[in-house]
Amino acid sequence: MTAKQVRQCMIFILIAAVMLAACAPASTEAPPAATEAPQEATEAPAPTEAPVEEITDTELNVLCTPQEQWCQGMKQEFEAKYGITVNYVRMSSGEALARVQAEKDNPQFDIWWGGPIDSFVAAKGEGLLEAYDSPNYANLSDPVKMKDADNQWVGVYVGTLGFATNTDWLAANPGTSAPTSWDDLLKPEFKGQVMVAHPSSSGTSYTALATVLQLRGEEAGWEYLTQYAGQVAQFTKSGAAPAKFVGQGEAAVAIVFSHDIVNEIENNKLPLVLTFPEEGTGYEIGGMAILKGAKHPQAARLWFDWALTPEAQALGPTYAAYQAPTVTGVELSHPELLEVNLIDYDFIWAGEHKKEFVDKFTNEIAGADNLKE
Ligand code: G6P
Repeated sequence: MTAKQVRQCMIFILIAAVMLAACAPASTEAPPAATEAPQEATEAPAPTEAPVEEITDTELNVLCTPQEQWCQGMKQEFEAKYGITVNYVRMSSGEALARVQAEKDNPQFDIWWGGPIDSFVAAKGEGLLEAYDSPNYANLSDPVKMKDADNQWVGVYVGTLGFATNTDWLAANPGTSAPTSWDDLLKPEFKGQVMVAHPSSSGTSYTALATVLQLRGEEAGWEYLTQYAGQVAQFTKSGAAPAKFVGQGEAAVAIVFSHDIVNEIENNKLPLVLTFPEEGTGYEIGGMAILKGAKHPQAARLWFDWALTPEAQALGPTYAAYQAPTVTGVELSHPELLEVNLIDYDFIWAGEHKKEFVDKFTNEIAGADNLKE
């Protein structure tokens, strides 16, 4: 892809996200709360209206991949709205996918919320997801890109990859500057100074890997990844952790989703500067899917519909989550995070090659033992 095409792609995505986010409010409300007392009927329902399903599920088990604070916040919001108890476990994308695979015949989770879509694409390929035709797909700003053609997964947020550099480290190392290209990460001064998660456990890190392969082509991309791994001080388990560790002075540069970097700068006041690779960065569609064999399918559908409302997607910043929404009618908290040069990221390709690429990285470049937590 030429630089011009990359720029055109970026402009298209930007316009779609920013313009549509400000459009008319979404059309479909989530179904009524399970605990709400039935309303006294004042008039007979119109004959064309679908009957409202009686919800008998009293709990919901959520496999939650975004940051802990947001998982906890969504649990509380859903419980308060619907009176259904939410049990969640926070797991990074690769761990979550492994768990879903291991529990194929006896799933312990009903719904998987968050984490880059490539893991959902991979799970779909193994028959682990349940299709659901949500009425709230109508709320999506870009249904072609943000939803599986067979209704097995949907996008619930968007985030771009960035670099976080410790400003104290820059001040202590005259002549250095924050990286503004993927090649900058290979500079001698960053030897042993880069922190990133391992792609086997982390969707963030896998997004970086797939971004490099798409930008450079597979041959040059793997060559680059070998050099990049040689710069890494230590691989972490979770994708967002390197921004915290770098902010605490454990290394100079982290490769992390930009909204997680914003969180560390704005809320945790860590000495970090956010930059982006000028030749193009990758981005995630954070996914959601109901698991095949879910034991609480009604509650799972209720969460699914709710998570596709502007009301639910507007909650992110309350819980320090600055990802962009996928539905219309929500104001972006940090539109500048999308106003960068984005590659034309191929989510399906990334998902279909996930196992192959993670295995290659683990076996040929850097093992996944002793990941920093
Ligand atoms: C963070 C980000 C999310 C992302 C997730 C993936 O929580 O805020 O936007 O989806 O990381 O987690 P992982 O640990 O798999 O990289």
